[in-house]
Amino acid sequence: MTASARTPIVAGNWKMNLDHAAGIALAAAVAGRRSEAAGVDLVLCPPAVYIVPVAGAVAEAGGDVAIGGQNASDKEQGAFTGEIAPPMLVDVGCCYVILGHSERRTLFGETDASVNAKAKAALAAGLLPIVCVGETLEEREAGRTEAVVTEQVNGSLAGLDAAALEKTVVAYEPVWAIGTGKVATPEQAQEVHALVRGLLAGLASAETAAKVRIQYGGSVKPDNAAHLAACPDIDGALVGGASLKADDFLAIAKAFAARSA
Ligand code: 13P
Repeated sequence: MTASARTPIVAGNWKMNLDHAAGIALAAAVAGRRSEAAGVDLVLCPPAVYIVPVAGAVAEAGGDVAIGGQNASDKEQGAFTGEIAPPMLVDVGCCYVILGHSERRTLFGETDASVNAKAKAALAAGLLPIVCVGETLEEREAGRTEAVVTEQVNGSLAGLDAAALEKTVVAYEPVWAIGTGKVATPEQAQEVHALVRGLLAGLASAETAAKVRIQYGGSVKPDNAAHLAACPDIDGALVGGASLKADDFLAIAKAFAARSA
């Protein structure tokens, strides 16, 4: 399968930003202009409390834009105060869920094992997980990028069969590029994306690995998206700051639409 056979996927991770009105306005703007990024899967990941109104705004604007959660429990239901179960995300209209974002790994103690349990629970509920991996600056400078990403991919995706892996999106987000304005060069990103695809082949087969979409994340902006989109193993973007503006988010998506054309 060539790169152009994989449908690019551009997701906006709003993190803990915006309010009810701003979220609805942004979702309506993106959905209303969805045709600008034809051929690209678009996903909006608002804070959980805004999933319902955002999904409503997307539906009202008639846009084919998917909704995702930013995290989920590995449990299906029960006495877990403050947690959100994967079936609940499905119940309110989510198709995707971001798992193991570096902020969750570093600030909330998530590990490859917990991300793996969450990925299995998400898949069991019918969600498509976006599983994040990426090295810190210290790890990159110590020449440990390959070792760190290998451990994260193999640990976070352990035990997923070919069918499950094909439903999974991997997001390579070098921690040093997140929110810093320091984007990885296309060469740096492509190198790790190729590594990830090789690891996926090891977990399943080359055929399966060729079907999995691997997003890049970390300071993706309209002015650097085209160079990233030109790389053969970069199948989309997981966008933080730039996803908070419809113009910027759509411009990034458009860069990937050009690749799929
Ligand atoms: P920025 O695009 O703000 O660097 O954030 C990237 C990110 O963490 C997306 O999940």
